Amino acid sequence: MPQTLSVIKADVGGFVGHSASHEEVLDAGREAMAQAIQSGLLIDAHVSHCGDDMFLIMSHEHGENHEQVHKLAWDTFIAGTEVAKKLHLYGAGQDLLVDAFSGNIRGAGPGSAEMEIEERPSEPVIVLMADKTSAGAFNLPFYKMFADPFNTAGLVIAEPMHDGFAFEVHDVKEHRKIVFNTPEEIYDLLVFIGSPARYALKRVASRQTGEIGAVSSTDKLSLIAGRYVGKDDPAAIVRCQGHFPAVGEVLEAFTTAYIVEGFMRGSHYGPLMPVALRDAHPARFDGPPRLVALGFQIADGKLVGPRDMFDDPSFDNVRQEANNISDILRKHGPFEPHRLPLDEMEYTTMPAVAAKMESRWSPTE
Ligand code: 13P
Ligand code: 13P
Ligand code: MG
Ligand code: MG
Repeated sequence: MPQTLSVIKADVGGFVGHSASHEEVLDAGREAMAQAIQSGLLIDAHVSHCGDDMFLIMSHEHGENHEQVHKLAWDTFIAGTEVAKKLHLYGAGQDLLVDAFSGNIRGAGPGSAEMEIEERPSEPVIVLMADKTSAGAFNLPFYKMFADPFNTAGLVIAEPMHDGFAFEVHDVKEHRKIVFNTPEEIYDLLVFIGSPARYALKRVASRQTGEIGAVSSTDKLSLIAGRYVGKDDPAAIVRCQGHFPAVGEVLEAFTTAYIVEGFMRGSHYGPLMPVALRDAHPARFDGPPRLVALGFQIADGKLVGPRDMFDDPSFDNVRQEANNISDILRKHGPFEPHRLPLDEMEYTTMPAVAAKMESRWSPTE
């Protein structure tokens, strides 16, 4: 029986400001998940968080985009919002952009990453949870995991990975997709995914078996709302070992503090810092952007875990690197390249300021 792993996430209120999640909000999530397991809708579930975002990690037998599973997530976020309102948390219900659920959570604000799998005899999976960054933030590490032999030794050494991977790229503005085969199309692939604000990696699959290896949420809040309402703070699921990168190859992709969109007011570039769950509360300039990796072994759909994978001193150097990069970028204050380029600022206060100043412009000589 195929199983589905669904990670659906939303910011329903921050404690304090946008920095972290409140235990009572997470409890509301845990209660809803426990009920759904008891009712038989879910096989298992785990509620977690990164910064001010709540992540529902669910396993079930209903496939992707299942109405009842999506409704469960929506109702859980509504319940969390009620708690956030009661506690006057910051931005209660921030990511819930529609008034009512209408069949699918996509396009409603929350982010979703789902994959249907045939569980292997041993199924190690890593769930990635980000805060203070955008959809597309997984382009670079997915490339490193599945296409770069300097990151993933298995691409060279392990026969099951030698045929390469198929990368599904989404054009988030035009709502269209394309698949590139690696290694032979890596240059074409990089033309697109090197621009993550527009082209986001959605899925990666083994070319030898066709099995899905990784999926990320590509939901863009600003494109749904038409204005800035907070960052996407994406989620991803990566299967490990066998035909896929080893656990350590997946995590190796985060040993560089690569620079992503997000940070303060979602309007700056900053380094992505991989952290243990206890450090997933971005405070300095609402950042730097954070990433948590939870490891699970799936056993007949049960989520055995989690293990907090970045809770490891071998990531101390990249955390230091992230702090060093933050120091340098912060010295630029409101100047690019710390501040996002103009076309990305369209979704902030920029249009209002530009409109106010419009009448004061005059032609140059
Ligand atoms: P073990 O010998 O510990 O199973 O490790 C094998 C492996 O593939 C490590 O990446
Ligand atoms: P979040 O997207 O995490 O809510 O952050 C919004 C923000 O404006 C931070 O400064
Ligand atoms: Mg928030
Ligand atoms: Mg957030």
